[in-house]
Amino acid sequence: MSVPQMLRKVPLFSQLSDEDIARLAEVARERTYPKNAVIVFEDDPGDALYLVMRGQVKVVLIGEDGREVILSVLKEGDCFGEMALIDDQPRSAHVIAMEDADVLVLRREDFQRKLVELPGIALALLRTLSRRLREADEKIGGLVLLDVSGRVAQLLLKLADENDGVTITRKITHHTIAQMVGSSRETVSRTIRELSEKGLIEVSRRAIAIKDRRSLEALCGR
Ligand code: CMP
Repeated sequence: MSVPQMLRKVPLFSQLSDEDIARLAEVARERTYPKNAVIVFEDDPGDALYLVMRGQVKVVLIGEDGREVILSVLKEGDCFGEMALIDDQPRSAHVIAMEDADVLVLRREDFQRKLVELPGIALALLRTLSRRLREADEKIGGLVLLDVSGRVAQLLLKLADENDGVTITRKITHHTIAQMVGSSRETVSRTIRELSEKGLIEVSRRAIAIKDRRSLEALCGR
């Protein structure tokens, strides 16, 4: 796939004309990161915006004891690294490749110039930031108000809603789910087994299916 074709798949640029996409493609650089590579380091100065073209990446905070909390898992079409470019502060989190990942990189000056030239990008970026704030609010609410099964139910519904509302096809381990909901791998495995035994979800090797949305929603207080 050519760089302009890849840029077309990024929601941030969905409003742009073919000509604008072509101009953006001229200044975008392709890069590949192996699984577990750190793409962005927390506290580094921000000098670029990244667009995920292939593979999943995780946005994480790492405690002094090495424990990780996953703030978000980003996939094809998502962008990251915009925050440091917007507020001129250091990177707010690490971004790490969860599998081999291809990204497009836009340098700070090129991205900032495009933001001024093409207001459609700024609007789409506001939408992205607003969605992320909503998700962060939901997560904070979950951490304070829900127990682990509620938080797992909340995450499973969110992942299913990214797809067809029923099936979760994203590759995601119990360990990753634990780091996303602030729990241990063992507790998450037990919770998923219980949800499955009660018929709320169906777990197969390839995917998790939502079987009883009402009960899952009740668990997370909706
Ligand atoms: P920046 O702070 O430049 O570098 C880390 C990036 O991770 C940040 O920009 C965002 O793109 C991304 N990020 C930080 N917090 C979240 C979050 N809660 N949800 C999704 N992405 C995030």
